Amino acid sequence: MSGMLKPLGIVAAVAALGMMVPASASAQTATSPTFTKDIAPIFQNKCEACHRPDSIAPMSLVTFEESRPWARSIKNRVQTRQMPPWHIDKTIGIQEFQNDRSLSDREIDLIAKWVDAGAPKGDVKDMPPAKQWPNEQGWNYTKKFGQAEPDLVVKSLPWTQKAGQNDAWWKPVVETHLTEPRWVRAIEIRPSTVKGRKITHHAIARLQQQETDALAMNPVDGNGNPLPGTFMEWAVGKEGEIMRPNSGKLMLPGAKIVWDIHYSNGGEDITDQVELGIYFYPKGQEPKFRQVLHLMGGTNGSGSGGSALGSGVDIPPNTVKATVGYFLLRENGRVESYQPHMHLRGKAMAMEAILPNGQIQVLSHVADFNFNWHNTYVYQETAAPLLPKGTLIKVTAWHDNTTANKANPDPNVWVGYGDRTVDEMAHAWVNVTYMNDTDYRAAIEERRKTLPSTTTSQQQ
Ligand code: HEC
Repeated sequence: MSGMLKPLGIVAAVAALGMMVPASASAQTATSPTFTKDIAPIFQNKCEACHRPDSIAPMSLVTFEESRPWARSIKNRVQTRQMPPWHIDKTIGIQEFQNDRSLSDREIDLIAKWVDAGAPKGDVKDMPPAKQWPNEQGWNYTKKFGQAEPDLVVKSLPWTQKAGQNDAWWKPVVETHLTEPRWVRAIEIRPSTVKGRKITHHAIARLQQQETDALAMNPVDGNGNPLPGTFMEWAVGKEGEIMRPNSGKLMLPGAKIVWDIHYSNGGEDITDQVELGIYFYPKGQEPKFRQVLHLMGGTNGSGSGGSALGSGVDIPPNTVKATVGYFLLRENGRVESYQPHMHLRGKAMAMEAILPNGQIQVLSHVADFNFNWHNTYVYQETAAPLLPKGTLIKVTAWHDNTTANKANPDPNVWVGYGDRTVDEMAHAWVNVTYMNDTDYRAAIEERRKTLPSTTTSQQQ
């Protein structure tokens, strides 16, 4: 988004409203929603994380005066579910997520009715108290663990985003200097300055290390190095990640952090570094379960490590193409999260489980992939699928290499696998917590207790 377009957008939105809005008295009927009573609470909960001063979104939606010029655009973005960014298909698959920031149908309906009624302000007495945002420059979990700093802080290298500069991706590789294995119980990421928050669209920290545990191995890249798994992804509004009880991620000596940071235009020259804060389990208190992050899908063919199998990306010009990959669960596991990864031609991605008995379950589907938003969808503990060993996880990625895809830089070229955004990938990053047969049985029993009996029968 260029700096030039924003003011024009405001003018256009105001003009449109001016024409559409009937005399305000008649618009504000007794039944139409008002900003102060109905809309402000929604914006506080679902929009202010990004739409407030000094944050990543182009405008603040804190006050009525700030929000009203954007009414038409707001209605459009929420009805098409482009805002808040959350691209899970609501009609299929698991819907219980720990980090769901989407709007309910009722909230969308209220916003649409409010805009249609002329976006009235309402009674100031109805306005909820302003939402207090925590001082974001502190670490979120230090208090919880009773320490002044995380146990390990790893910084990306500094990046300067010039005023008006196009979006940029910064991928420095940084040593952790770990000399012994450590179990991780929580992770958080933050831009190191307040200004840095204006340009840091999202940041992914990948963990690259030499695994000896066969279950934890990722496929290798062209140079024989293991592909790094996502350690944590941060975008505005995200606190961090605390591992589920008695489980953790394992960091090994010599581990490196491979950063993947998306910077966007902040309207002025801004230099920042992103920081990764890691909290370890105390030595001697190692968790029982290991969470492993896997690459699943057909991204670069058969993937010579791990158990990813697939066709590889091969997308002819002017074509919509599906790429399929399978991942064999060699041990029982709970699938914790789903993060589709494609580039500019990415359109949709589905993750299904093919159980050893042949039954197929759709776990999740992202129907409206958007390269600007690399969301990790984290299942609620009571909904995260428990899958027996021998399950095949099938990941299908659809790419749209036609003119219908507005993000497509060139529909007339063939596209293959590669690192650049004009090349493609077709995989998901999926966290799995592995369990032996006894623990798996126990987890299934536990789940039975919390769920109505009809929904658990398929888990066997
Ligand atoms: C996770 C951060 C985030 C959340 C949460 C979020 N937005 Fe946004 N929003 C953005 C960013 C960044 C942009 C600019 C880039 C884009 O258009 O995708 C944007 C753009 C928009 C636009 C388009 C502005 C224009 O230029 O026309 C509208 C309208 C909007 N958001 C409304 C909302 C509403 C309403 C909510 C809550 C219901 C919301 N957003 C929640 C980050 C967010």
